Amino acid sequence: MTPDKCKILEQAFNLTATSYGLQPIKLVVVHDKELQRELMQFTYGQKQIAQASHVFIICIERQIDRDFIHNYFNRVQEIRNTSNEILDPYKGALVENFSKKEREEVRNWATNQAYLALGTLLTVCALEGIDSCPMEGFDPQAYDKLLGLDRKKLTSVLVLPVGYRADDDFFAGLKKVRRDLNDSIIRIL
Ligand SMILES: Cc1cc2nc3c(=O)[nH]c(=O)nc-3n(C[C@H](O)[C@H](O)[C@H](O)COP(=O)(O)O)c2cc1C
Repeated sequence: MTPDKCKILEQAFNLTATSYGLQPIKLVVVHDKELQRELMQFTYGQKQIAQASHVFIICIERQIDRDFIHNYFNRVQEIRNTSNEILDPYKGALVENFSKKEREEVRNWATNQAYLALGTLLTVCALEGIDSCPMEGFDPQAYDKLLGLDRKKLTSVLVLPVGYRADDDFFAGLKKVRRDLNDSIIRIL
């Protein structure tokens, strides 16, 4: 996959809408065959990891605290020049709201944002003609250790190998298995 295509996917990840706009997620981009082979061991041996052009790992932030929220508002100020008068009430409310949440609740909230980013990436991959395989079947702790994510206060949540399909990829030609549209959609007209 060319650097240009990779950049498009990176931008799509970054442009994903997130709850409150807080972006409690980061994307690790791996384009190193040796490391990909190592990661395969912690992905139940699934070969896509080693064979893909790039492996994307969607991570969540472990520390979503007052500083994290303040950083977001500093960014709003930097980009939009919004006054403190306007930002402060919302900033205060958000810090208070998060301080009351249990760790688990914040973790689940951040994980939901990771899945949202996965959806964006899958769609943009399809539009760009890039194959991708979303994966939950991996050992997040082993990934975090190998990629030094503990030090960065990140936890891996989803893995997405991306690239171009091989000519002899049997699965690529198979029909999609999906529910009938009438089983999937409830129309109230
Ligand atoms: C959240 C999520 C996790 C998945 N985890 C794995 C996985 O660990 N290994 C795998 O081979 N496929 C995994 N899949 C891929 C699905 O099994 C399936 O192949 C994928 O949705 C593509 O299906 P399609 O070709 O019918 O569109 C996962 C899909 C999703 C959405």
